[in-house]
Amino acid sequence: MGKFRVGTGWKMNHTLAMARDYAQALAAAERPEGIDLFVLPPATALTEVVRLLEGSGVRVGAQNAHWAEKGAWTGEISMTMVADAGATLIELGHSERRAHFGETDLDVNRKVRAAIDHGLIPLVCVGETGDDKRLGAAIETNARQARMAMAGLSHAEAAKVWLAYEPVWAIGEGGIPATPEDAKPVHAAIKRAVLDLVGVEPPVLYGGSVNPQNAEALAVVPEVDGLFVGRSAWTAQGLLQIATLAAQARKRG
Ligand code: PGA
Repeated sequence: MGKFRVGTGWKMNHTLAMARDYAQALAAAERPEGIDLFVLPPATALTEVVRLLEGSGVRVGAQNAHWAEKGAWTGEISMTMVADAGATLIELGHSERRAHFGETDLDVNRKVRAAIDHGLIPLVCVGETGDDKRLGAAIETNARQARMAMAGLSHAEAAKVWLAYEPVWAIGEGGIPATPEDAKPVHAAIKRAVLDLVGVEPPVLYGGSVNPQNAEALAVVPEVDGLFVGRSAWTAQGLLQIATLAAQARKRG
């Protein structure tokens, strides 16, 4: 199953200068053992962050890319461009993409296919809204999104995919972090859904208001294979603090 993964999507934050500071600080820092770190800068900073983190073991990825190889898609970037920038990871289907840019499960499926074809690791976000949860459809929604993202992949291809459970009600300012009790059954259901579909149990990270107060409790849930952090990891120190807390908590067991 590999190491415990801790990483962050910067969303629409950080100029090139800020990205450089972040990457340099991360490259120079002592990084916790047993943790696979990753950062997802905006596309404008991708090549520079890749360059500065080369040889550090910290993975770098993009936050979104199109499924088409190239062409008349103004404003988009392709998987080829992401790979060309030196990134190895691609975040897909974040709830902000789904909500603000109308991304569907079918879009996410096409993007997963394209990512795999370009040798990128897809990090697919799934998650129910507050209404889904209130009406008792959390498990179903997540299982459906995970299945639709991965439909059509072979066993070997599916084994490359990471998923993140990101309940929409937990994300961002005003989000309420999921508790380990909230996360556990949904993570288990996502794993089961993917196992049924493609015969592979995927790593499932948790994301949504992860912070230094809740990182330890989430990191020791057996079904949680990593933490995907937003606001609390928009500084290198923030990411390292959460990664260190997770590493210590897992060592304690
Ligand atoms: P947050 O973002 O940690 O700021 O809630 C999480 C995410 O969107 O992945």
